[in-house]
Amino acid sequence: MKIFLIGFMGVGKTTIGKKLAELLHYSFFDLDKEIENYTKKSISEIFEKDGEKYFREIESFILKSFLNHKNAVISTGGGTPCFFDHMDWMNENGLTTYIKASEDFIYHRLSHAKKPRPLLKDFSEEKLKNFIHAKLEERNSVYKKCQIIYKTPDEKLDSLLEKIFLVLKK
Ligand code: S3P
Repeated sequence: MKIFLIGFMGVGKTTIGKKLAELLHYSFFDLDKEIENYTKKSISEIFEKDGEKYFREIESFILKSFLNHKNAVISTGGGTPCFFDHMDWMNENGLTTYIKASEDFIYHRLSHAKKPRPLLKDFSEEKLKNFIHAKLEERNSVYKKCQIIYKTPDEKLDSLLEKIFLVLKK
């Protein structure tokens, strides 16, 4: 079984994914990290030098390279499900979990984040708030196709595990 973690930048997909993988004794993969290992460039460098279109192609290639992986938790990038056939592909090939958070929570996390995010470069406070509002609204139509919804930071990890076992039992 592959578990795909989906959700907006800053919601904590990587942190939650690592803990979940440990509890399930699954391997953990972070799609952005895999892209960086494969291209030997940072995500920011790829956006800067090669552009977003190229980044999305590599992202697609790396995502699909997980086809034959078993027992893995894969944390995706905030935009991953919104390009090509990715959302349907992940639903067909694994269990998709939407890590859902409020705009305020995301804003707080992103305004304190150390990880460089090319889509947010040089945003003022107001611009960041507006961007989160608009992008989240746009992406929600895709995110809500996930089989499981997990609300962070309100829900405990145990509740996510329960939801996963319920789906696996069906
Ligand atoms: C992106 C999210 C990032 C990374 C890239 C683009 C997006 O991942 O893939 O900067 O389009 O939302 P995180 O969600 O891990 O920050």
